[in-house]
Amino acid sequence: MTTELKLPLYFDNNATTPCDPRVVDAMVPYLFEHYGNPASRAHAYGWVARDAVATARQQVASLIGAQPKEIVFTSGATESNNLALKGAARYLARKGKHIVTVSTEHKAILDSCHALEREGFEVTYLEVDSEGLISLDALRAAIRDDTTLVSVMFANNEIGVVQPIAEIGAICRENGVLFHCDGVQALAWMPIDVRAMKIDLLSMSAHKMYGPKGIGALFVRRGRPRVRVQPIIDGGGHERGMRSGTLPTHQIVGMGKAAELAAESIASGGVDKVRALRDRLWDGLRANLDELYINGSWEHRLPNNLNVSFAYVEGEAMMMGIKEIACSSGSACTSASLEPSYVLRALGVDVELAHTSIRFGLGRFNTEAEVDYAVELITRKVRFLREMSPLYEMVQEGIDLKSIQWTAH
Ligand SMILES: Cc1ncc(COP(=O)(O)O)c(C=O)c1O
Repeated sequence: MTTELKLPLYFDNNATTPCDPRVVDAMVPYLFEHYGNPASRAHAYGWVARDAVATARQQVASLIGAQPKEIVFTSGATESNNLALKGAARYLARKGKHIVTVSTEHKAILDSCHALEREGFEVTYLEVDSEGLISLDALRAAIRDDTTLVSVMFANNEIGVVQPIAEIGAICRENGVLFHCDGVQALAWMPIDVRAMKIDLLSMSAHKMYGPKGIGALFVRRGRPRVRVQPIIDGGGHERGMRSGTLPTHQIVGMGKAAELAAESIASGGVDKVRALRDRLWDGLRANLDELYINGSWEHRLPNNLNVSFAYVEGEAMMMGIKEIACSSGSACTSASLEPSYVLRALGVDVELAHTSIRFGLGRFNTEAEVDYAVELITRKVRFLREMSPLYEMVQEGIDLKSIQWTAH
């Protein structure tokens, strides 16, 4: 059986997804045959490119229940997040200079907030509970008269925890503040309706939904009250002045196709297949191993994410042991500090357990045979590594490690 598998298995779909072959097929003609600049109005090369961009804009808009005119193409969600936060905060600076966000947001949000703080804005970082969820009461309490913007991600990239987006949108609308949402991780996996959820700005990225890297979009709601963002890139005035730069037609076509396929997959049960694989992985692991801890809410979670701590097995040692599986470790041991994930720390996961965490991100192209292979390999490696762990042995003997008074010499 295992000889048929292509190793290493790709279980890192929260980091990025492969391009769907149908996406690649849609893109290729726009690299070679239809290479016109969509802004060229005087000839057919330009018109073909412009029509392709219009189709893609429609495909992206319909994935999230928006109008095509509300989609601004960017280079990815890092740029979308920068544009949303800096663009909206600066535009509204005369009204107020206070922003609310969450401590577990992606760095593209947190670092944009830090940049705004250096410009004189004030930011409140909401805490999360042990499940990774914010408190709606805390959000209500954080909104002040000078608050102009709230930014909360749809689903977390490390632990897959899904925030109560519609409730957050309602609170923001009631209080007359804009609601920005980083929707990147949810796009391929959950229905998003920007109108029903009262989202004013939504960041998107193609490479987390089987599209190409280097292309994303920002939904900027139209209608009353009008949402405005000050551009962060100036130039020829593309994208209604919000994002200048020649549109990368092939990338945009790829994102459009990816959005269409994501909508189809959500509507036709493709997502349930991935959820079943994720559950098979978790069921298999916990049937074989003890002392496993899920990080983040199980109930409010992306269907493709499993973030689990393998107590007494250091994450990097584990990663070395399971090289046949491409996944991520929650301990950022590449950095000199050995700092464990700030997301896990925000949930109150203790440092030791955070260091043992592994993120598995299942995807559209994974199979049951791959999951079964992974369960078998991980089980074997964890047992092996725990056999070498004196701490695990003590726990097996019934010793409560917390009760031990370690003597320091
Ligand atoms: C939640 C979230 N926001 C933003 C980004 C950044 O997206 P991009 O890679 O398109 O810049 C990512 C991807 O790493 C992400 O997971």
